[in-house]
Amino acid sequence: MQIQTIVGKIQEQETQALVVNLFEGVTEPVGATGAVDAALGGAIRALVTAGDFRGKRNEVAVLYPTAGFPARRVLLVGLGKAEKFTVEGIRQAAATVARKARDLGVTQLHTPIHGAGIGSIEVEAAAQAVVEGTILGLYRYHELKTQLEDVRPNLEILVLVEHDPAKLDAIKAGAQSGQIIAEATCLARNLVNRPANIATPSRIAETAQVMAGVVGLQCRIMEKPEMEALGMGAFLAVNQGGGEPAKMVILEHNAGCDDLPTVVLVGKGITFDSGGISLKPSQDMWKMKDDMGGAAAVIGAIGAAAQLGLPLHIVALAPLTENMPDAWASKPGDVVKSLKGLTVEIHSTDAEGRMILIDTLTYAAQFEPQAIVDIATLTGAQAVALGLPAAAVMGDEGLITRLRAAGDATYDRVWPMPLFEEYGEQLKTDVADVRHVGSRMGGSMTAGFFLSKFVPEGVPWAHIDMAAQGLADEDRPYIPKGGTGYGVRLLVEMLRRWNG
Ligand code: BES
Ligand code: MN
Ligand code: ZN
Repeated sequence: MQIQTIVGKIQEQETQALVVNLFEGVTEPVGATGAVDAALGGAIRALVTAGDFRGKRNEVAVLYPTAGFPARRVLLVGLGKAEKFTVEGIRQAAATVARKARDLGVTQLHTPIHGAGIGSIEVEAAAQAVVEGTILGLYRYHELKTQLEDVRPNLEILVLVEHDPAKLDAIKAGAQSGQIIAEATCLARNLVNRPANIATPSRIAETAQVMAGVVGLQCRIMEKPEMEALGMGAFLAVNQGGGEPAKMVILEHNAGCDDLPTVVLVGKGITFDSGGISLKPSQDMWKMKDDMGGAAAVIGAIGAAAQLGLPLHIVALAPLTENMPDAWASKPGDVVKSLKGLTVEIHSTDAEGRMILIDTLTYAAQFEPQAIVDIATLTGAQAVALGLPAAAVMGDEGLITRLRAAGDATYDRVWPMPLFEEYGEQLKTDVADVRHVGSRMGGSMTAGFFLSKFVPEGVPWAHIDMAAQGLADEDRPYIPKGGTGYGVRLLVEMLRRWNG
């Protein structure tokens, strides 16, 4: 989709469809909506006074102007109550309108920047939200369909229309970052939506390599022999039951810029989690193709960071492997030696995520990071505790504060969980240094506590458990069913705010 920004009057645009908005309870529209209403001879006021349009959030009406009006359609979108309006409302409104336009067969849309300058919403943030909402809302995963005749084409051109030339630069800047961030999120969605026979560790590594070339990131793929030589026994224990060789994607933005602060992102990349010998029930097992959602998030996020030119040295580490049962697979009770040197008793082979993460966390030390953030579809307990609205975050207070702020802004939200010493009691074992699973109670925190034992000494670290967030069962305004791309916008926003 092409995005343009122009200075002009919305009611004068010759286009397939133009967009106007209305807050709930407004009966006398002003601004762009008022101007369009006047040009339409009061058609919008008529809709409102008839009670057919109330301005509820994401309510849409389509008007068909008669001769003399340059646009073929007017899409009216409700923004809800003005006092409750936020950037999230902009993303949702933009997505709702874009989908409606697509349903109508519209490929060219002119829109104002909803909410620009209203309350404390900045013009640049508003423009970013319009573009993000549009691209994210229109996302579809069609690469494996061969019968696409009946599918509506997506928007080809989105034109942002602003009457005040003083706002043009801010709008262009916001639109550009919105496009970069939304497209990175769509890359992560593709990686999650791709089935596990296609998105194998090798193929995901290839995708990361290609992306790195396009956006100018340094990329290295660590192969199995190197993992063996280093002694990544925990990571390799998960891989030993699968046919696909393990890979570790290592992406770097501003590699070698020693004066910049270094942030390492680690993403869990289980391309399929069958549970291994501790086999999962078959019912929803297909969903475990999303168990590389953390890896997808860090790959997408660092790609966006590069395109945004963020003044940080960022490293993304994505350990990739299947978790499969076979004669060579790890068994419950096996003990393996981690990269850190600690021996780990495998309690359940279905707690594989933490095994691949600990060796990656230890490996992260060599980048001498100022902070490490890992993100993983780690525990079903996270989904039980928090459900859809927020992922769990635990670890360093300062990082939690950063992540909460970024989460509230992007709506890739997180909520803090504790890492009390007592969680460690459950990880004691008679046969090794540590057991990797506790009891069912507090499962997300024992997992987090286990990870914390492998974080390089003295480095602030936070762990995000996004088990419930990776795959959506139902459509939301800008999050279609399927892979969500959760975490990309969260991490990018945290990084954008790093020095500020
Ligand atoms: N990948 C799963 C966690 C998960 C569950 C992600 C549901 C998304 C949706 C993870 O590897 C897992 O199996 N965790 C186990 C841990 C247990 C064996 C200690 C769990 O949560 O049941
Ligand atoms: Mn598992
Ligand atoms: Zn898993």
